[in-house]
Amino acid sequence: MHPDIERILFTAEQIAARTRALGKRIAEDLAASAAKAGEDARAGEQAAAPAQSAAAQGGVPAQSAAAQGGVPAQNPAMPLAVCILKGSVPFFADLIRAIPLPLETEYIALSSYGAGTASSGAVHIGKDIEADVAGRDVLIVEDIVDSGRTLAFLCGHLAARRPRSVRVVTLLDKPSRRAVPFSPDYVGFAVDDVFVVGCGMDYAGRYRNLPYIGVLKPAVYGD
Ligand code: PRP
Repeated sequence: MHPDIERILFTAEQIAARTRALGKRIAEDLAASAAKAGEDARAGEQAAAPAQSAAAQGGVPAQSAAAQGGVPAQNPAMPLAVCILKGSVPFFADLIRAIPLPLETEYIALSSYGAGTASSGAVHIGKDIEADVAGRDVLIVEDIVDSGRTLAFLCGHLAARRPRSVRVVTLLDKPSRRAVPFSPDYVGFAVDDVFVVGCGMDYAGRYRNLPYIGVLKPAVYGD
């Protein structure tokens, strides 16, 4: 164990097992959402189709795009997994490999402005995502939800681009620290209000590469 760590909260093995379980559940939900999107699209096509089929009109019935080996025109776009830099990187990398579905990845850099330890609540976008989110299932991947400001902002930011859905998964949740109402859809572990580092989480840029999640010794951050 690193000498600056007071105690380990979650081992690498516990994190890996929880990440696999989250990936499985998220994959089931995304698959269900895609199936529903397909049903909605087909219902829309039927509603828009002429009353008589091509065959009834003496024409040749068209094969479905799938039967022709192509992608159906109304196939819903791939889900988009969004990694919030920098802390989410290790969790994101493991989680997307635990989701056995085609998906696209994107990366966004966000930071909060505040004086000292008190955040002003203003969130700044350093690097935005580039993909089109309209009509897509979006999965935001976060390392920790604290005040909730970052995710409340990001969900609003993405919702304005008309996604099909937005879900949030966080490795850690500190519900006792919430300053704005926010509930993640999937939580790896809920934790008390302790200073956690490791598995992407830092103090002054350090400890992100610890394979476990630990509580930092107060002496390190000057308490
Ligand atoms: C951390 C964490 C979340 C945010 C959560 O990011 O990764 O994005 O704080 O806090 P909130 O719920 O109070 O908004 P940080 O700003 O430390 O950046 P980093 O990921 O680059 O370490």
